[in-house]
Amino acid sequence: MSDNRYADVYQRALNDPESFWAEAAEDIHWDKRWDRVLDDSRPPFYRWFTGGALNTCYNALDVHVEQGNGDRAALIYDSPVTDGGKVFTYAELRDAVANFAGALRNHGVDAGDRVIIYMPMVPEAVVAILACARLGAVHSVVFGGFAANELATRIDDAKPKVMVSASCGIEVNRVIEYKPLLDEAIRLAQHKPGACLILQRPQAEAAMTAGRDVDWNEAVAAAEPAECVSVAATDPLYILYTSGTTGQPKGIVRDNGGHAVALKWSMKNVYNVDEGEVYWAASDVGWVVGHSYIVYAPLLKGCTTVLYEGKPVGTPDPGAFWRVINQHGVRVLFTAPTAFRAIKKEDPEGTYVRKYDLSCFRSLFLAGERCDPDTLVWAQEMLRVPVIDHWWQTETGWAIAANCMGIEPLPVKPGSPTRAVPGYDVRVLDDAGNDLPAGEMGSITVKLPLPPGCLPTLWNNEDGYRKAYLEQHPGHYLTSDGGYRDEDGYLWIMGRIDDVINVAGHRLSTGAMEEVLAAHPAVAECAVLGVADALKGQSPLGLIVVKAGVEVTEEALVPELVSLMREKIGPVADFKQALLVKRLPKTRSGKILRGTVRSMADGTPYKAPATIDDPVILDEIREDLSRLGYPKA
Ligand code: COA
Ligand code: AMP
Repeated sequence: MSDNRYADVYQRALNDPESFWAEAAEDIHWDKRWDRVLDDSRPPFYRWFTGGALNTCYNALDVHVEQGNGDRAALIYDSPVTDGGKVFTYAELRDAVANFAGALRNHGVDAGDRVIIYMPMVPEAVVAILACARLGAVHSVVFGGFAANELATRIDDAKPKVMVSASCGIEVNRVIEYKPLLDEAIRLAQHKPGACLILQRPQAEAAMTAGRDVDWNEAVAAAEPAECVSVAATDPLYILYTSGTTGQPKGIVRDNGGHAVALKWSMKNVYNVDEGEVYWAASDVGWVVGHSYIVYAPLLKGCTTVLYEGKPVGTPDPGAFWRVINQHGVRVLFTAPTAFRAIKKEDPEGTYVRKYDLSCFRSLFLAGERCDPDTLVWAQEMLRVPVIDHWWQTETGWAIAANCMGIEPLPVKPGSPTRAVPGYDVRVLDDAGNDLPAGEMGSITVKLPLPPGCLPTLWNNEDGYRKAYLEQHPGHYLTSDGGYRDEDGYLWIMGRIDDVINVAGHRLSTGAMEEVLAAHPAVAECAVLGVADALKGQSPLGLIVVKAGVEVTEEALVPELVSLMREKIGPVADFKQALLVKRLPKTRSGKILRGTVRSMADGTPYKAPATIDDPVILDEIREDLSRLGYPKA
């Protein structure tokens, strides 16, 4: 191997993916070894480790106990919002998971059955996830900030046998009752789950529905611990719904074998973390970052993972992250840039950073949204450790581009997530599918096959998978991000090329929001676009055309639309602003000029297309935007 370690490893994965990933797979315990590393018998659909059998929970918990590390901390629960916390050793977590798996089994859950988990950031959420994996059941975690309607959509798609939830979550100092949302979702859904296992938290007591709801503790008390069930490498481990361009979310499927191999490999190679070290992903178990880097990857690696029920600011102050790093000896933190923007806003001088000894801390990884160079440089100055931007998506489950700290740290270029991670053949293509030269913006794709760990399909929707990701550029997976590669091979991810926006690292569909607005009786036509926001990266802005003959003011209608959005999609949509306009700005062929309005709102240069239908309307919108205080970023 030369000194150029990254290039060597990257080439090896590209030239001979089968031996590369077979070698990585030796790090996983298999009940039965695979017949084929890469099954390419049905392109464009590829499968990894076909014929192999394993259990992901066994690899995350039992194996460490059996290797004599049962006393090592597996999970540190740190909860400033409840003034609470708890440490679970590997042996304790394994036992809690085995017991809850027994409870799920008592309620009819077997391998292949789906279980929806709608929970706040409590250890029982991790227990429920791993208990499903233990049984070979398929979990689908729904983020707590989604409303009943969104939960109902997921219930109807996943058709869970059982739901697992809690009485409440805590948002800084507000108690958010989850159970009424769960009840409403089940009422709205066509599919009715057989049982709901409910964790009662002391902050709110949930009313239970007789014959359907079962108290978590009672369910566990009545159960025998369950052993790990061996499943095929290609069997689904979980479904995670993510926003597409319409109101119907996409059910991203993750398999067992490829996922375990890729995630464990990533812990050393991408994050440079060794077993026994403390790793913290400050995200939520409802997002892919939570699945991969709160739960699975750190436990597969035998690390100690941190589950933090709090915010970067306000719980109680902008020193919260530094307190957690110091208190638990965190080596690596992974979060979204928005968290750092929130901290910077409240503590620009870093007064709180200096209150803590952070000598244990080695590196910060950021992902989930484009990382603006200012935030990255500020974090570097405050923390004096490498700050690594890396790029990935729910679909891939782990990083597509990163500065692989465990292979060879490369120079950081603020604004770029560095280079493609070994296993990903990243291309920048023009509309006709030609590779673009360095510096030219295009559509970013990954040449098939995707590496292990990435989605093999959409839940019950192979055709949807093909249409959304594989058809635009045959032989490639479409990331739906646009950007370019520079002369040094660094990737620059400039933003989505579809109708998906990114608010505080949360992925949201403007199409779904438009469906909600359009359902309001006063709304004739509408458009939602993502405008720049100094804290959250982007925030949604609605343009509303009221039906002819309807007399309503902006002051009266906008609050109604805001609460409709909270009710239908959830507070996470963060929909707070809308403008009443006479007409939507369109081209003569009817295309809404979202890009032009976005540039107006962001204060960036724009040129209205020559084919504009009605130039006057743009002038009116520009005036309205400045009335609302745009540009805000
Ligand atoms: N359950 C119920 N409601 C939730 C929720 C949950 N799990 N998570 C968020 N919400 C609510 C919030 O309370 C807020 O409600 P509000 O409009 O009534 O105030 C709304 O959803 C929007 O939440 P959020 O986008 O998180 O904004 P915020 O103002 O509460 O916090 C940050 C802003 C930057 C501090 C926060 O987004 C953050 O910590 N981000 C870190 C990055 C992250 O977790 N990224 C995930 C992917 S890596
Ligand atoms: P999600 O599936 O919710 O993780 O969102 C994935 C999307 O977030 C990507 O398609 C990108 O648009 C964006 N994203 C994630 N990480 C980065 C990054 N490091 N740089 C730029 N965009 C990012």
